[in-house]
Amino acid sequence: MSDSSTTNEKYAPSAEFAAQANATADLYTEADADRLAFWDKQARRLTWDQEWSEVLDWSQAPVSKWFVGGKLNVAANCLDRHVDEGNGDRVAVHWIGEPKSDARDITYSELLADVSRAANYLSSLGLVAGDRVAIYMPMIPEAYIAMLACARLGLTHSVVFAGFSSAALRSRVDDAEAKVVITSDGQFRRGKPAPLKAAVDEALGSDLPNVDGPAASVHKVLVVRRTGIDVDWDAERDVWWDEVVPEQPDTHTPESFDAEHPLFLLYTSGTTGKPKGIVHSSGGYLVQASYTHYNVFDLKPESDVYWCTADIGWVTGHTYGVYGPLSNGSTCVVYEGTPNSPDEHRHFEIIEDKKVSIYYSAPTLVRTFMKWGHEIPAAHDLSSIRVLGSVGEPINPEAWRWYRDNIGGGKAPIVDTWWQTETGAIMVSPLPGVTETKPGSAMRPLPGISMDVVDNDGETVASEEQGLLVGTEPWPAMLRGIWGDMDRYRDTYWSHFAEQGYYFAGDGAKWDSDGALWVLGRVDDVMNISGHRISTSEVESALVGHEAVAEAAVVGASDEQTGQAIVAYVILREHHIGSGDELVDALKAAVSKEISPIAKPRDITVVPELPKTRSGKIMRRLLRDLAEGREVGDTSTLSDPSIMEALQKK
Ligand code: WTA
Repeated sequence: MSDSSTTNEKYAPSAEFAAQANATADLYTEADADRLAFWDKQARRLTWDQEWSEVLDWSQAPVSKWFVGGKLNVAANCLDRHVDEGNGDRVAVHWIGEPKSDARDITYSELLADVSRAANYLSSLGLVAGDRVAIYMPMIPEAYIAMLACARLGLTHSVVFAGFSSAALRSRVDDAEAKVVITSDGQFRRGKPAPLKAAVDEALGSDLPNVDGPAASVHKVLVVRRTGIDVDWDAERDVWWDEVVPEQPDTHTPESFDAEHPLFLLYTSGTTGKPKGIVHSSGGYLVQASYTHYNVFDLKPESDVYWCTADIGWVTGHTYGVYGPLSNGSTCVVYEGTPNSPDEHRHFEIIEDKKVSIYYSAPTLVRTFMKWGHEIPAAHDLSSIRVLGSVGEPINPEAWRWYRDNIGGGKAPIVDTWWQTETGAIMVSPLPGVTETKPGSAMRPLPGISMDVVDNDGETVASEEQGLLVGTEPWPAMLRGIWGDMDRYRDTYWSHFAEQGYYFAGDGAKWDSDGALWVLGRVDDVMNISGHRISTSEVESALVGHEAVAEAAVVGASDEQTGQAIVAYVILREHHIGSGDELVDALKAAVSKEISPIAKPRDITVVPELPKTRSGKIMRRLLRDLAEGREVGDTSTLSDPSIMEALQKK
């Protein structure tokens, strides 16, 4: 567990902000008085084709049903509704491509037409509601169009981050038995086109290790022409988007789906090597996405320009890049590139140019901005900013203050939002204009959300004491399970506190004496690298997959820039001993290729032995001490305590 420094500095909401805020303190009172009535009311933010008979059915716990019997179409709630209400000319997406000249504004009417064409094409392939579609795309308009077209047809999408390797894509395609993969020829990265379809070809073929022939479920690959680079082509399987989608009719009648219909799967790292396909619903998910987006970011659809910097490959890109903001009729910035391409001014130029008023990003990026220097944001007019958001990892108080002072003009409220792929939407966050904030604290569960910090017996811990963060009541956007593995679902999240029926989040936390919640980092074998979840065992198995490695142990060590960094200790096979720096580089490259560049270890140390208990379990705690340069803790349970001395000498 990383130790985030805590502070007791407080920032009260300004009277000026409070006077215009969407949220009021009444939300807390209302939700406390009757939680289910509160959610019933929130559900009416959306357009339903059929009303529900019951708000929550928890009789099959831990699988919940929300808005039982209700029917809706998620895409129609994100598009048609706004057009029907006369807002078709509002810009839905200010799309900004990486090559600077490449940009396009897409109105709600245009987006609806684009999504209708794509939906018409997908249904012409014979896909039916419930089929899975994998989306492996950069941040281009077609990625949004593809997600919404799936939602419109009830096709369950599984977005795979385009930075993931072909092996990672293959395992996700196989697990979900996706019938179609949507991708692009390539993507722009720092001014240069980089291939992407090539990874799809590799993923779906039979040449990867650990695959048994070509991917059996996939019969079509739909390819967006983004960069114009050369690609291999399978005439049976592959089809160019621009040759089939634009000619489709631009209207499409949406069908209604059950509130529980699975909207998407999103794979995330767990404590074992195999990623879990987190299943999300349609109704409950969209209700909480919409409610939290509106209140936490104080969204004014007519005037705000909202920018969530997360890639669609992560849950933040789903809930606060697509479904939350579009359900609320927001005008969103979507940026294809990186923050320092062509130079470090890029994000601030975009904020200035588009008059971004709500900016939602991650602590790791704020720390990067800090490193680049305050002169960079200071060179731009950022006065449009009125709300700042943070997500993905605890934000250290220094970064929090810097964010507020240098991007938020010294006054924009910061919403530090705690949630997870599994929770689907924000769970803990201050409400701007209502809740006081403290740098580094996510403050309190949102109205309608019940969480606690408990000890191993499920008892609430005293304030200032560390405990485990749990959900004590079901919530609408909660995961409905792990795709194809409901036992793992029960075991991972519900077995720790089976007696109490609490959801175990995997994070350590504490309440402070003012009742503010401080999230202190993961307590399991999941690392958090720049806000990305990676399991230690995933990296270990990638290392052991290399012929030189006999055994590997991986820990997350605190890192100023990335929050945590991956540190690996490896034992080499006999004939590789002494192969040096070149081997370390090769191992780093192997992990990048097997998982993704984000999983590349910062340090790899070759060791003769690993610290193990008598039962053979690697003691990661000791390796973490070592990696963080601390005094090594209690070694008495090691089968051979002298190992740590030898490692320390290295
Ligand atoms: C961490 C991202 C502290 C936490 C939406 C959680 C945070 C994991 C915060 C989920 C925050 C996320 N403060 N820690 N505001 N937000 N985390 O699934 O450890 O990618 O369990 O979802 O990120 O990561 P995930």
